[in-house]
Amino acid sequence: MDKIRINGTRPLYGTVAVSGAKNAALPLIAATLLTPGTHTLHNVPDLRDTRTMLKLLETLGATWERSGTSVQINTTDLTGAEAPYDLVKTMRASVLVLGPLITRVGHARVSLPGGCAIGARPINFHLRGFEQLGVETILEGGYVEARVQGRLEGSTVYFDIPSVTGTENVLMAAVKATGQTIIKNAAKEPEVGNLIDMLTAMGAEIEGRDTDRLMVTGVDFLQPVEATIIPDRIEAGTYLIAVGAAGGELTITDCFPSQLPALLEKLRAAGMSIEDKANSFTASCPVDSAGNRCPLRGVNVTTMPYPGFPTDLQAQFMALMIQADGVSIIHETIFENRFMHVAELQRLGADITIDGASAVVRGISRDRICGAPVMATDLRASASLVVAGLAASGTTEISRIYHLERGYENMVEKLQGAGADIEKVKA
Ligand code: EPU
Repeated sequence: MDKIRINGTRPLYGTVAVSGAKNAALPLIAATLLTPGTHTLHNVPDLRDTRTMLKLLETLGATWERSGTSVQINTTDLTGAEAPYDLVKTMRASVLVLGPLITRVGHARVSLPGGCAIGARPINFHLRGFEQLGVETILEGGYVEARVQGRLEGSTVYFDIPSVTGTENVLMAAVKATGQTIIKNAAKEPEVGNLIDMLTAMGAEIEGRDTDRLMVTGVDFLQPVEATIIPDRIEAGTYLIAVGAAGGELTITDCFPSQLPALLEKLRAAGMSIEDKANSFTASCPVDSAGNRCPLRGVNVTTMPYPGFPTDLQAQFMALMIQADGVSIIHETIFENRFMHVAELQRLGADITIDGASAVVRGISRDRICGAPVMATDLRASASLVVAGLAASGTTEISRIYHLERGYENMVEKLQGAGADIEKVKA
């Protein structure tokens, strides 16, 4: 298995460009199933997960072609409506084909994703939403079978907790339903807004973008479209955090700083200097002539739905806090098992105690964080090990990096360009 090897304590300088957002690309690719024709998506990151989603569309009869960061998808002739276990088990976001398939062909059969490393992650909200729109769902042999006679019927759907892919799935089911659908307590993440923009360009009528109350008025026709994936705010945030960990000064381009309000607040409170413009940041944490990085303070963080602190940056932020002055309490409210990185950070010397849904991080001096072999357990945990490895003295070797490749495009090359001593080691 391939590994990533990092020789730490090298500051980062220069510029890093952010790729398109994985979590926006996945629903936008799925949305091309809604209506026949050739759709063009721009700024599509080339990642394991986007490749899996395109492969899933292929199994449904679509064809696609990539040219640079643009992908043309032809969904004229669908030949199936099933997302098989083999694909869904590698990427739970495969469930995003449920909504568009029900709308387009009136039925779908999708393997139930099962649990994953960060939590049980059920899809009951998605299924309840579909049922409220008149869809019959049954579970058989590990598959969800969803079926509707005629058109879906507009209704009110309420989410107990704002679910990102749940909101996206129900939106895609509602766009051609009869009458109006109101989604209450909808997710407000920018990736949902990106999908709403694409659906609107297709001809859908959706009000309430960026709010927790979405109103969809069903339409009769949708047309193929050209849409652009927004920049990956989690990738941008990971590089900002990396500057804090390694020290230096980095300009992060091709991103929307306004989509990271909570992270900016916390990094500034920790002592980093960050200048944000409309489409870039410059983050700095100066290193003195003796090689000491600017001091950082421990700050507390609680993960919340957007615009709160993203759970997808919790692990990376914790990797920064292990070397801050004082104590930082990191409270995870979205997923019940998202502390798998703690045991790996402890292998580097971090002082972290888990107390239920909180991790108490007692910052220690930089020279006590030393490189070691560690293992990636999920996507964001892997990114946190890269952040920690950049700051640790000596060599950190991260195994199971296929997790990282699901969601970060060319991370090794981008960090090399910023001066990090990092390389991918082929098995
Ligand atoms: N939930 C339910 N039932 C449901 C759906 C969600 O109980 O039917 C619960 C979840 O267990 C969780 C909470 O609701 O406690 C919110 O989960 P959500 O549905 O919003 O998560 P998701 O849509 O499955 C997306 C991202 C995740 C990200 C979360 C939270 C995509 C493809 N995935 O997942 O991204 O962590 O929202 O922001 O958009 C990642 O990129 O590393 C990643 C895990």
